[in-house]
Amino acid sequence: MENTTPKPERKKVMLSGIQPTGVFTLGNYIGAVRNWGNLQEEYNCIYFIADLHAITVRQDPAKLKKQTMECFALLLACGIDPEKSLTFIQSHVPAHAELSWVLSCHTQFGELSRMTQFKDKSAKHADNVNAGLFTYPDLMAADILLYKPDFVPVGADQKQHLELTRDVANRFNNLYGNTFVVPEPYIPKAGAKIMSLADPTKKMSKSDENVNGFISILDDPGVIVKKFKRAVTDSEMEIAYREGKDGINNLMTIYSVITGKNYEQIEQEFAGKGYGDFKTAVGEVVAEELRPVRENFERYSKDKAYLQEMYRKGAEQAERFARRTLEKVYKKVGFLPR
Ligand code: TRP
Repeated sequence: MENTTPKPERKKVMLSGIQPTGVFTLGNYIGAVRNWGNLQEEYNCIYFIADLHAITVRQDPAKLKKQTMECFALLLACGIDPEKSLTFIQSHVPAHAELSWVLSCHTQFGELSRMTQFKDKSAKHADNVNAGLFTYPDLMAADILLYKPDFVPVGADQKQHLELTRDVANRFNNLYGNTFVVPEPYIPKAGAKIMSLADPTKKMSKSDENVNGFISILDDPGVIVKKFKRAVTDSEMEIAYREGKDGINNLMTIYSVITGKNYEQIEQEFAGKGYGDFKTAVGEVVAEELRPVRENFERYSKDKAYLQEMYRKGAEQAERFARRTLEKVYKKVGFLPR
């Protein structure tokens, strides 16, 4: 018999991890974190703090612990609702490390050697080219494959790692029969790239030695406006989006993302006005946009018990999910059940 009632569509699953290495910049916020809250409506989202990944470079233990808690509070402050999205801390779920081992036994030395991030990071930390830095992509593959997501949002720097995840998943499926869902990259719709305010040819980065180059999402409103007033522009006097005007283009991008106005509207709004007025206006909308994030962060930071309750719940739920996948994998490779 023909079934005419359409099946309710299962929400697709989206997974992303973030390293607890300090407060996000306006660039991270606009490029990624700002959208995470909205994605929760459309997708079943899984967000975790990748603390296991963080120790591939040397960390100060006390600082790592503090930043992990801060990072969790920040995710909530940015609109992630732990009742809606699975939100947890990677090291709380042992299955990540366990699956990573199995995957590393199905990944070739040559494949890992080709990872450009490994090459970059081992050049940057030449005194600590550890095995974890080398096998990092297998841990990332485990993070992903445990939860069977349909999509993983990836920036340019993680694209190669997702490719490897797909290769290893396919290889495993071919060897042992269907086990893993092979995830697709998710390219955000409005993927604006935010540049440094001090050197608008470089990406905004929290490791910039010039603090005027980046906005931290917890900066005070006064500091935000001041940094924008110092933003490097050009020697012309026209507020227009054009090649060769990197500084103005960057400010226009930021203003556009936050206000929803397009470049034409912005050009009209500031026709005949000076760069000073424009910079102040951009600074003010950014300060206003980040106000709730900063206020929420302060509120959550004071309530450690709530944060703890949320990440514990997250870990328990993640654990159940991850265990199921891991057990299937162990069975496939021939491990004798306990
Ligand atoms: N490697 C990512 C980064 O450095 C963080 C990360 C770890 C991740 N595991 C992941 C991202 C799984 C997406 C999916 O930014």
